[in-house]
Parts: sequence; C-alpha cells; structure tokens
Amino acid sequence: MKHLQSFLEEKPRLRFIFTGGKGGVGKTVSAAVLAYHFASQGKKTLIASLNPVHSLTSVFGQDLSGGRNKPIQGVPGLFAVEVETSETVERYRDNIANRVREFLKWSDIPVDSKPFVDIAATNPAFEESAMFDKMMDVMLSEGEGYEVIVFDTAAVANAVRLIGLSKIYGLWLGRMIESRKEALSLRMQLSFRKEKVMEEVKKDPMLADLLAMNDRFTQVKGLLMDPEKTAFFFVTLPLTLPISVVKRFISTVRTYDIPVGGVIVNEVIPAEVAEKATGDEYMQNKYHEQGGYMQTIQQDLGELVRAYVPLYPNEVVGLERLRELARDMFDVGAPLAVSYGD
Ligand SMILES: Nc1ncnc2c1ncn2[C@@H]1O[C@H](COP(=O)(O)OP(=O)(O)OP(=O)(O)O)[C@@H](O)[C@H]1O
Ligand SMILES: [Mg+2]
Repeated sequence: MKHLQSFLEEKPRLRFIFTGGKGGVGKTVSAAVLAYHFASQGKKTLIASLNPVHSLTSVFGQDLSGGRNKPIQGVPGLFAVEVETSETVERYRDNIANRVREFLKWSDIPVDSKPFVDIAATNPAFEESAMFDKMMDVMLSEGEGYEVIVFDTAAVANAVRLIGLSKIYGLWLGRMIESRKEALSLRMQLSFRKEKVMEEVKKDPMLADLLAMNDRFTQVKGLLMDPEKTAFFFVTLPLTLPISVVKRFISTVRTYDIPVGGVIVNEVIPAEVAEKATGDEYMQNKYHEQGGYMQTIQQDLGELVRAYVPLYPNEVVGLERLRELARDMFDVGAPLAVSYGD
C-alpha cells in the first residue's frame, strides 16, 4: 500500500492523469485536487473537462466555460478548459465529411456524400469518437507547454471506454491504410508508366491523411501505455455499485495495458462523526454498512488504495473546500488500512 503522495513522488515524469469511476463518486473533485496539487508544486498544469455537462466551473467556483484554457484565479500555474461538446462534434463531423467527399471523388463514385456522413454522425459512438479525437489533440498539441494535464471525463463516455474504442480505431485505420495501398498498387499494375504512378502514390492525399492519423494515434497510445507518463486513478465510495464499477474498470484497463495509478476511496464517514451521533439511527446504520464495504475494498483493492477521503458535511465547491480535500487526500499520516470495531 502506498499513499498518493509517495506514489506521485516516485513518478516525477507523470504528465497525463485520468480519473474514472461510477457517476457522482467524486471524479471531478479528485481531478481538481490532483491538478491543484501539481500546480502547487510549481508545475504548469491544465485540467481539461471532456464531459457533455461540465462541473469545473462549480468545483472551482469561477467561470471556466467558453472552451478556452483559462487561468484559475488563486492558484498560480493552474489552467482549466471545459471543452464544448457540440463544437467538438461539429468540427469532427466536418473532418469526416471532407474525408468521405475526397474518397468518393477519388473513387469516381458520382454520389452525394451527405447521406454517408449523416449515417456516420448519427452513430451513438460518434460523440465519443469526437471527444477521443479532441483528447488526442490536447495530449499532442493543444496541451503543449503544460507539464501536467489532468482529464476529467464523463461516467458513461468513460476514459476506459475511450481506450477500448482506441483499439478498434487502430484496427480500422490499419485496414484503411492497407486497402488504400492495394487500390493504389492496382492502379500501378494497370499503368504503363510506373514511375508516374509512383509519384502519384506519394502525393496521394488520402493515403497521406490516413498515415498521419495513424501516426498521431500510435503516439497517443504510446503515451497512454507508459506508466512513467500516464496514471489512471479510480474513485469509489464505500458502497457496492461503485466498488464493482472500479473493479471492472481496473480489469479492463489492465487488458489494454493502461497504467493504474490507484484507487481513491471517497466519502468515508469518519469514526469520530459516527461515535458522536449515537442517537442517530440513520448514521449508525450507514456507518455499520460502511464497515462491511471497507473490508471488501481492503480485500479486493487493498494494494491499490492511495487515500481515504472523509465525507464532508457540505459539497466540495470553491477553492477553500478543494484545499481541505487536498489536505485529506494527501495526508501521509492517515492510515491506509482502516480497522473497524465490528
Ligand atoms: N468527500 C466528499 N464529501 C462531501 N461531498 C462530496 C465529497 N466528494 C464529492 N462530493 C460532492 O459530490 C458530488 C459529486 O462529486 P463529483 O462531481 O466530483 O462527482 P463525479 O464523479 O465527477 O460526478 P459525474 O459522474 O456526474 O461527473 C458533488 O456535489 C461534490 O461536491
Ligand atoms: Mg464529473
């Protein structure tokens, strides 16, 4: 078992941080605290929200909307961006439309490209693909100049699913490149002037485009699979469903060779709070129930637990609360194995 603080100290080159877990467990506040931590260490940090519904504005208590990197007032070196989903999807759609048009033009297929693009864009995974594409942009170019980039991703379009998607994406790209090469070499065989066709192959815009996509994708994959550069943190509550979601994510992530940073157990009712509330039946029940789940966590995720964060009487909104959470999450004196009386 290792505290969050020691884990991060051992990984000074970490650059890409992700938080995952069931809906509402505290992924955004954990991402915010991690980003705050890196910035406080003097590292220029960007926290990027890739959710359809953003909550960074609320967590930091300042307006971060507008889809641009904005400095966080009160935390030098910390910047945030709430990526506009509709804008991102629209741009991605235009890109795809161009590709389809070009493909049809090249193949001399005299049909309207619009229906093809519409079919692609109504695919339920289209928005996720668009957000994944945006994430690649942030990792490779838009995030340039930032030492650390923390991603806050939605529960449904979870980062893990994005990586899963990335595998299919890679296969698809490989196929496309192969078939493009085949088509071009077929042209070459049919032609008498081979050198001329060879030149054409080199200039072929679609092949160049596919190769560039593949290159970009391979780069991102390399970064995501590098345990010195990337860490996925999973957030859970001491409750059945969030625990099973985290367990499932961890096994998925491992099959894709994505490095697991650890588990943060959030909203733990502190013993002293339960002890004080002797007459409160609801609190006593919750606390008793929590004891069982804490045992499950220790058995199933024990080695991976990096912090236990207490349940606060209020929501985590604004910098003051975030600082309090940061103190608790990075408290090296706190026990990592919680013992329960009953
Ligand atoms: N330790 C805590 N004590 C009290 N409230 C908390 C704690 N951690 C998080 N919260 C509150 O719980 C709510 C959910 O937190 P957060 O938005 O970070 O979850 P999430 O996993 O990002 O949710 P979503 O899946 O909707 O993105 C917020 O209102 C937050 O302020
Ligand atoms: Mg969130």
